[in-house]
Amino acid sequence: MEIESLKSMFVKYYGEGSVRAFCGPARVNLIGEHTDHQGGYVLPAAISLRSMCLLRERDDGIIRLRASDIDTTVEAHISDLSKYKTIGWGAYQIGVAYVMQQKGYSVTGMDVLFDETVPHGSGLSSSAAIEVAMATAIATLSHEKISTPVDYVEIALIAQEAENQYVGMNCGIMDQFASSMGQKDSAIFLRCSDLIYRYVPVRFDQYGYRLVLCNTKKPRSLIESAYNQRRKECDEAYKSLEKALDIKCLADVTPQQFEDNKSIIANPVALKRARHVVYENARTISACELLERDDLVAFGRLMNESHESLRKDFEVTGIELDAMVDACKSQEGVIGARMTGAGFGGCAIALVETRHSDALIANAGEIYRKKTGYSPEFYYADITDGAGERRIEST
Ligand code: GLA
Repeated sequence: MEIESLKSMFVKYYGEGSVRAFCGPARVNLIGEHTDHQGGYVLPAAISLRSMCLLRERDDGIIRLRASDIDTTVEAHISDLSKYKTIGWGAYQIGVAYVMQQKGYSVTGMDVLFDETVPHGSGLSSSAAIEVAMATAIATLSHEKISTPVDYVEIALIAQEAENQYVGMNCGIMDQFASSMGQKDSAIFLRCSDLIYRYVPVRFDQYGYRLVLCNTKKPRSLIESAYNQRRKECDEAYKSLEKALDIKCLADVTPQQFEDNKSIIANPVALKRARHVVYENARTISACELLERDDLVAFGRLMNESHESLRKDFEVTGIELDAMVDACKSQEGVIGARMTGAGFGGCAIALVETRHSDALIANAGEIYRKKTGYSPEFYYADITDGAGERRIEST
């Protein structure tokens, strides 16, 4: 929905008065999948799909939350924000308020309306977008009271903490960092062990290519437990390798070190997980260099390799994502395709010559539908700036 319509909806629910709007974008990860939780490199970008949080403070300590597309109101009180973990919709927002309160932010009562353009469960980080929009709103209002600037890296960390501690998904920092720190027409080359990053211009358009988001529409279930299990297997590999190598995280291991020492990882599953992390991390470093040189054909080859590794070694793709990637790769003009995000369903991305992009969507969509029975959706998304306040024109 447009921001002005959202304002009208807000006023309808909560009454006349001033309203502010804060945006948390979704993200796409170009490469560097399942490396963030091992301290490795990632290359995500914020995109034009987003979560929007409209908000007005209240003075009675009650937080009232609504969504533009669900007809219920969730209520919480700031005197005990710890007890809303299992409320379903609203837990991300209350979790963020809870974490911020613990950190000393001024968390007041508030009326809040959320609106999403990110499809849920699509692997584009709808949850991080919600968390970051909420954290940006609270941080902006809180900092205004003491005239200090908002720290967007801290917003990413708060949002991640809410997801880890409150919602129970042991995710890395990539999604929240991309959502809060994104920059228009750039990807973020981020090392997750210490949050050192730089922006890398993405010039797909100038070179005649387009990034297509391909939503498998496969419902993702039990993703938290499968994700947390992968992390445990990586930890196991790390604990074995750390006995022989001077490393602080699994992503510190180079491919050569891995090949020389892999025999000390006793569990074959942990070994496969580690192989993915080590080689994906190396691919991400190379991919960043290729993107900086605009060598998009070589970049696309690394996207393909990334998907294969996620399929065979990390085992997070599944029939639908594989079918989508295969369908895309069979189309004219496609130079790379891979899943993006946690996997187990959700979205793939394809890098395709612009002149073939509409045909890709029609043909790959049909092949995929025949093979899986799901009706996919495709999006072109612009790479945008990260989180922040958005102006509401007075109506
Ligand atoms: C999810 C998590 C991220 C990251 C990706 C996989 O999106 O939230 O932290 O681990 O999966 O790369």
